[in-house]
Amino acid sequence: MRIAITGTPGTGKTAVARALSKQLGLKVVSVRGLVRKKRLYSRKEKGVYVVNLAKLAKALRSFEGVAEGHLLCEIRIPADVMLVLRLDPRVLKKRLSRRPYPKSKILENVEAEAIDYCAIRARKNYRRVIEINTTRKTIAQVVRKIVRAMKTRKGDRVDFSQYFILGASSSR
Ligand SMILES: Nc1ncnc2c1ncn2[C@@H]1O[C@H](COP(=O)(O)OP(=O)(O)OP(=O)(O)O)[C@@H](O)[C@H]1O
Ligand SMILES: [Mg+2]
Repeated sequence: MRIAITGTPGTGKTAVARALSKQLGLKVVSVRGLVRKKRLYSRKEKGVYVVNLAKLAKALRSFEGVAEGHLLCEIRIPADVMLVLRLDPRVLKKRLSRRPYPKSKILENVEAEAIDYCAIRARKNYRRVIEINTTRKTIAQVVRKIVRAMKTRKGDRVDFSQYFILGASSSR
C-alpha cells in the first residue's frame, strides 16, 4: 500500500501520517528525514535545505507505506492515493505563528493554503487526489476521515477565498 500525504507546512502531515500508519500497520517515510539521510539537496541556503526534486522523486520510486511531505505535490511518485491536508488559513496562521519563522514565511504559507496551491499542484501531478479538510478536527478524527474517504473515493471541497476578502482576523 502506498499512500502519499501532502499539504502546506503546518497542516498536520507528520502528525496524521504517524497516526494513520499506526492504524494501518504501515511505515512512514518522511520527506524531511529522507532528504537529510540521503542528502537530496543541491545546496543549503541560510540554513535552509534546497531540495533536489529529481533526486527526491528517484529516492521514492519504490516507496512503501505512508510518504509525507509538502514537496510531494511538486513531483510524481507511485502513490495509490495522494491525500492533501487542508486547514483554514486563519487556523494555520495561528499554528505557524508558534514556530520561529519570519513573518514573511508565515504569510507565504498561509496564502499558499488560501489559494489551494498544494492541491492544484497535486492534481496536476497525480491521478487520485483526495483533499481532507482538517479544520476543527482532532488528529484521530482526521485519520477516520481519511479511512472513510479512501473507501468512498470522495474527499472534501474547501473554499478559503474569504481569507482574502474578509481578512485574517474574522472568524466563524
Ligand atoms: N488536527 C490537528 N489538531 C490540532 N493540532 C494539530 C492537528 N494536526 C497537527 N496538529 C499540530 O500542529 C502542529 C503541526 O503539525 P505537523 O508538524 O504534523 O505539520 P506538518 O504538516 O508535518 O508540517 P511541516 O510541513 O512543517 O512538517 C503540530 O504541533 C501538531 O501536533
Ligand atoms: Mg512535518
